[in-house]
Amino acid sequence: MKSIDWSKLGFGYIRTDYNVRINYRDGSWGELEISSDENLNIHMAATCLHYGQEAFEGMKAFKGKDGRIRIFRIEENAKRLQSSCEGICMAKLPIDRYVDAIKKVVKLNERFIPPYESGASLYIRPILIGTGAQIGVHPGTEFMFVVMVSPVGPYFKEGFKPSPYAILRQYDRVAPLGTGRFKVGGNYASALLAGEHAKSLGYSAVLFLDAKEKKYLDECGPANFFGIRGNSYITPKSDSILPSITNNSLMTLAREIGLTVEERPVLEDELATFDEAGACGTAAVISPVERVDDLDLNKSYVISKNGEAGPVSTKLYNKLRAIQYGDEADKYGWITFID
Ligand code: PLP
Ligand code: COI
Repeated sequence: MKSIDWSKLGFGYIRTDYNVRINYRDGSWGELEISSDENLNIHMAATCLHYGQEAFEGMKAFKGKDGRIRIFRIEENAKRLQSSCEGICMAKLPIDRYVDAIKKVVKLNERFIPPYESGASLYIRPILIGTGAQIGVHPGTEFMFVVMVSPVGPYFKEGFKPSPYAILRQYDRVAPLGTGRFKVGGNYASALLAGEHAKSLGYSAVLFLDAKEKKYLDECGPANFFGIRGNSYITPKSDSILPSITNNSLMTLAREIGLTVEERPVLEDELATFDEAGACGTAAVISPVERVDDLDLNKSYVISKNGEAGPVSTKLYNKLRAIQYGDEADKYGWITFID
């Protein structure tokens, strides 16, 4: 293997040794297959290609100081994939099959798990796609589950340094009663243009508003959003937000350190009242928000006044990372070991 400079990893694709696959045909899931081929051989009429039958997940494996490999909240991701599959009419993979496949692919690619000191991790990307050949618009009957992995560093190049976000009203990520709460590829396709627009103006990502009234905060590019005001952890609740497992974990940790958690519709105007704010997700971990520019109303909400992450976000970030790397006890049962 070409030597990898673990400390300089960004969030990109690096070829690893193996991926794993499970096919669904004739009403049932088959045996797990191990492959070193980076290509999938699928029919040109597959429903994933024509009608967007594609759902995915994102998780990370971490190497601890003790050398042990830990995966964070694997069962929650398995359940969310099932929910996404229901959302776009695909066969659901049983939880135990999901967990076994993830454990297997991580173990097979053990040499690609970054060392503890690097602060990097092995990103795990499962996908579930419709593979049956079909032209009519209706759900397919054949599916493929594939898991690939890649060593990664921070998603946003600033890492744990605050960066700016933009509100751009001419784009919606998803429809109010659409597929926003599912992790399906179509949601990401429909957000690409907005994201590229924001990046071209120097922003990390778009802070999307609710698509109906354009008054409430929804989510932050490929991550959830939270704000800290005094002793409260405040995060938007809506039917079009992806239920983030990181955000859910941060809410638990916030309560543990004595904060009040408010999960509710959050007005854009409240941005002016936050002491701290962050984008949170598996890839983003916590990416602190420096400011949010509302480019339509010509307004700027400056959140980090000194260019540094605030004390509460820092505490939450350190606690989450400590659990993930095994430096703090796993009292909520979030960790699965790979031995
Ligand atoms: N929201 C969106 C749109 C995402 O793509 C992600 C990434 O998975 C998240 C939120 C964060 O979810 P999680 O913390 O489960 O990774
Ligand atoms: C994740 O955080 O796992 C994501 O899926 C975000 C993005 C890379 C799509």
